[in-house]
Amino acid sequence: MKAIIYTTYGGPDVLQCVDMDKPVPGKKEVLVKVEASTVSAGVTWMRKGKYQGSVLFTILLRLMYGISKPRNQVLGAEFAGTIEQVGSKVRLFKPGDKVYGTTTGLKTGSYAGYMVIPESRRQGVIAMKPPQLSMPEAAALPVGGMTAVHLLTKAEIGMRQEVLIYGASGSVGTSAVQIAKYACAKVTAVCSTANIELIKAIGADQVIDYTREDITQLKERFDVVFDAVGKLPGSAARQLLKKGGRYCTVRSITVEKTAYLRSLHQMIEQGEFRPVIDRVYPIDKIAEAHEYVDRGHKKGNVIITNWP
Ligand SMILES: NC(=O)c1ccc[n+]([C@@H]2O[C@H](COP(=O)([O-])OP(=O)(O)OC[C@H]3O[C@@H](n4cnc5c(N)ncnc54)[C@H](OP(=O)(O)O)[C@@H]3O)[C@@H](O)[C@H]2O)c1
Repeated sequence: MKAIIYTTYGGPDVLQCVDMDKPVPGKKEVLVKVEASTVSAGVTWMRKGKYQGSVLFTILLRLMYGISKPRNQVLGAEFAGTIEQVGSKVRLFKPGDKVYGTTTGLKTGSYAGYMVIPESRRQGVIAMKPPQLSMPEAAALPVGGMTAVHLLTKAEIGMRQEVLIYGASGSVGTSAVQIAKYACAKVTAVCSTANIELIKAIGADQVIDYTREDITQLKERFDVVFDAVGKLPGSAARQLLKKGGRYCTVRSITVEKTAYLRSLHQMIEQGEFRPVIDRVYPIDKIAEAHEYVDRGHKKGNVIITNWP
């Protein structure tokens, strides 16, 4: 099978396409034929071996993924595909099931024709793909969706609360806007001019263009301020809170839970949530896809597909 590996940290040119043996599932593992993956912001940090603007996060990243070079060479944090084979003790899945999830805690990522995953995960998730979503949409769901569910749940978002979502046009931001609307909050979203129509279309009540308006000068105060892109200084965010308001940011540790996916599935079934897809690149254009995401302006999610 083909796989995309990186043996050294760096720019998109460190990605190489190689031939690898197809993995064999263990007794409690499933073999997935990967049909779609993503270029998430997190994957680009892993490729660079560096978290922009934070020495602490860079140290943590190197401790997790390899000090001088990547420990696990196959990148890719999200996947969607079809189960081809299951181990003798697998109970939850069968060949032919359409699944999706994350590769968190696994030795290899999803930039490969096939991957093996335990059916039950201590870290990371695997779930049946909601039938309403295409493979690319399912691949785009877990990281942004679960991060937004986790942080908004922690912030105890509720009905009629006034919520400010800063960086509303990324993967986490577009998920957060839809989740906050589902919770019947009043959503003020912050993005640039190019993304205003998109953010209105996914339900924001009010959109502020950060290229034209300095949000630190806003008179309005919010029950929740969610920095979905990690670029709003904490002091500026807190200044926008009502008394007793809650601030949350993607610059914090989050966890992945199948319970979060179940919440997202409920919204999807009711037609209230859909992952936003910006661009779809075939696997042989993976370096171009990474270059695009490195620019920091993707809208929602960037998908990798067309595995040979
Ligand atoms: N803690 C966690 O578990 C966790 C999980 C997932 C992601 N993250 C982190 O969350 C961050 C966001 O990830 P992502 O994939 O959603 O998005 P992303 O790809 O990092 O961000 C893209 C979006 O951010 C907007 N943006 C860029 N600069 C901005 C600014 N100064 N003000 C407002 N918006 C700005 C861009 O819109 P414009 O073109 O309009 O500028 C673009 O739509 C990343 O740093 C990622 O590492 C953390």
